[in-house]
Amino acid sequence: QPVRLADYRPSDYLIDRVELDIKLHATATRVQSKLSLRPNPKGVPGAPLILDGDDLKAKYVLLNGAQIDSSGLFLTPDQLRLETPPQEPFHLEIETEIDPTANTRLMGLYRSGTAYCTQCEAEGFRRITYFLDRPDVLSVYTTRIEADFREAQVLLGNGNRIESGTIEGTGRHFAIWHDPFPKPCYLFALVGGILGSIHDRFVTRSGRDVALGIYVEPGKETSATYAMDALKRSMAWDEEVFGREYDLDVFNIVAVSDFNMGAMENKGLNVFNDKYVLASPATATDTDYAQIEAVIAHEYFHNWTGNRITCRDWFQLCLKEGLTVYRDHEFSADMRSRAVRRIADVRTLRSQQFPEDAGPLAHNVRPDTYLEINNFYTATVYEKGAELIRMLKVLIGDEAFHKGMDLYFARHDGTAATIEEFIACFAEAAKRDLTQFSLWYHQSGTPHVEVESAYDKQAQTLTLDFTQSCKPTPGQDTKQPFLIPIAFGLIASDGAPIALQAGGSDQASEDELARGVIELATTRRRVVFQSVPTRPVPSLLRGFSAPVRLGNSSSEADLLTLVAHDTDSFNRWQAAQTYATRQLLHAVEVVRSGRKPIYDEAFIDALLRVLEQSSDPAFIAQVITLPGEADLAREIGENVDPDAIHGARKALRQAIGEGLKPNLLQTYQALTSKDPYSPDATAAGRRALRNAALDLFCAGNPEEGLPLALQQFESATTMTDKIAALSILTAHAGPEREKALEAFYATHASEALVIDKWFILQATIPEPETLARVKSLMQHAAFSLHNPNRTRSLIGAFATGNQTQFNAADGSGYDFLAGIVLELDSINPQVAARLLAAFRSWRSLETKRQGLAEAALRRVASVSGLSPDVKDIAERSLG
Ligand code: ARG
Ligand code: ZN
Repeated sequence: QPVRLADYRPSDYLIDRVELDIKLHATATRVQSKLSLRPNPKGVPGAPLILDGDDLKAKYVLLNGAQIDSSGLFLTPDQLRLETPPQEPFHLEIETEIDPTANTRLMGLYRSGTAYCTQCEAEGFRRITYFLDRPDVLSVYTTRIEADFREAQVLLGNGNRIESGTIEGTGRHFAIWHDPFPKPCYLFALVGGILGSIHDRFVTRSGRDVALGIYVEPGKETSATYAMDALKRSMAWDEEVFGREYDLDVFNIVAVSDFNMGAMENKGLNVFNDKYVLASPATATDTDYAQIEAVIAHEYFHNWTGNRITCRDWFQLCLKEGLTVYRDHEFSADMRSRAVRRIADVRTLRSQQFPEDAGPLAHNVRPDTYLEINNFYTATVYEKGAELIRMLKVLIGDEAFHKGMDLYFARHDGTAATIEEFIACFAEAAKRDLTQFSLWYHQSGTPHVEVESAYDKQAQTLTLDFTQSCKPTPGQDTKQPFLIPIAFGLIASDGAPIALQAGGSDQASEDELARGVIELATTRRRVVFQSVPTRPVPSLLRGFSAPVRLGNSSSEADLLTLVAHDTDSFNRWQAAQTYATRQLLHAVEVVRSGRKPIYDEAFIDALLRVLEQSSDPAFIAQVITLPGEADLAREIGENVDPDAIHGARKALRQAIGEGLKPNLLQTYQALTSKDPYSPDATAAGRRALRNAALDLFCAGNPEEGLPLALQQFESATTMTDKIAALSILTAHAGPEREKALEAFYATHASEALVIDKWFILQATIPEPETLARVKSLMQHAAFSLHNPNRTRSLIGAFATGNQTQFNAADGSGYDFLAGIVLELDSINPQVAARLLAAFRSWRSLETKRQGLAEAALRRVASVSGLSPDVKDIAERSLG
């Protein structure tokens, strides 16, 4: 039965202190838990105490040191219920026995390689011991961890280590960790194992000397140095930009190879998917480095936005996730190129979140009901949640935004807060009512904004007519108008900016003009600008100031003006993308009618002019990278034929490659570097452009291009260049493909994270033989359905990164995925549910594929004994 936000009430009991004594054992770990409880003054007096459990085996339970009369205690693997608990402070002692080796769900205590580790968010702590497993119960933890020394030399917990020692004559040792900050149990963590480590220090601005440690598989220590560097930069940045200091004497990070998500912000002991820690030039791409930097920062920033201030309930997930993603985006923007980061972040939002918002899995950024909370760690909560914060800042300005943040930290530190409390801080700081803005948290779907622009030469006025609408989403047939900030500017066709003057009854406010932001708060709005001497080109939604779809009726000529002259680099990029998209959508129709598409010379010329600017290679790389197949499918929105999209895109890439042949080659050669490797954004940008140029060159001129790619593949000294070349070789059928893939495997067989890239490349080949290849790779020694990274790289990449083959017209891709989801569901339901979400856009397909996708979903939904995770996704997908 669903959990509803409206049903929230405070816990009837609180747990002030938790003392854990955990004796690690591969199959029979003993967990002794001593809880100091008391009735919650805000709860129901005399209510029974109901502790959550999940698959637990209780050894004994003592109340204030004594056995409990069996009529007052009800124990099942999923619950501990005390019928008439004392109505004053009391103690409960519980011992459970758990089997970390059998824990394939990777929630609770489990084994990964040579380590024991935990994952408790959202509801994993109840798989360790019985507890009030809800984020609004905050407790101070002391954790004693004991293990066989040979099995676990390293013993880590939350907070500071206060004691450690050996247990004479047993070969065992222990460590005691104490975390002075009250926290919800989802932030609990422990790690034990044979691990290598690197260490460093960070002195906070008030002088706290913090010992930093990163723990990895022994032998991989040197691959953790970039993560350490990113951590120190994150700590300094949070002091500088948000005034947030670290608060313990220790900060540890542990990288494990089996992890359901990216990483976890446990207090003082972050646990990471090793993909977001380990990097060396020979094994990690520039994108990997950028992601490591972002995820390290993200988890570190959670210490304030998530840990010091946590969530009242799981409906408030975006309170910590949206805000923390916003913070990590800002960090990356400051560390790298702000313009290029913004483009990359919007690309992610559009490719991950927009389809979610447009399909049956659409939900509010702050949902109001859920069946399985793990299914709400979504692009909507994370990425759209971050956009809402950014939009808030555009609306109220930087100063009020930072005042609001400070107020939030001051007022809610040490508490479990809500979105309403968060927004109230900004309303107060900005002295502005934010009721309409809050609708963004409560209405799902992506608003669509249409703009009509009309210039009157006689009157010298420019009139902009804005209209907003939003399609129905599950449970929400109609929407109230959103408050949409539209950052804008006007430029003349020769590129000169035009000063803004409002006038008449439809004027923009002084404030709007000063900020360059029009606030669209109603379904329609007209804005008239006076004294506009020549017909301007409006540049709208600069910097992507709101997460909307902007209908673009600008002429091609106007788009070219923007590409050439807009001072907002996001909109320069956007104008090129809009132009490309328009071309491609037209070409899809042409391909569908069995003809060959032709492309605008003007578009290819525009790309050439961008390519000729030697200014910012990373930006140019973004401009010449066409919208992806899934982006086009989303733009088309209904009756989608993935084969036609693929055909159209392939033809345009070929046309660009042919049309810009000498220029692409010249770009490629000019960017060749002999410098030693550096992962910094400038060097990475040069590699990005060089590889994008090679890719387009090969698309148009395979005879000359493929030998170049092969040469790059064989001589590359960085994984970025190597994988870029291999990707080109893999995309082109022929003997070079198999030879290169074999050579790559032979070189990197011992590096699981590199082999993941090898899986991804093969899973995304847009050819009918790919499904058979994926099936046979599942038998490969390097593959395991038990490991989330492997599964995502082979199966996930096939389902989300191979539009033509997952959506094969015979339904074979759908059947395959349904089968895997069912098999995986009994191993790891969270990962299974995530794979199943690849069906989220099935209703936008052409009818035949729709029918086949629906049949596959029904096949899954009809199986009995499904996990709540998979059942929820299957049922919501079918709507
Ligand atoms: N809080 C983590 C992060 O975003 C994600 C953990 C999600 N885990 C899960 N099992 N749903 O940093
Ligand atoms: Zn997070």
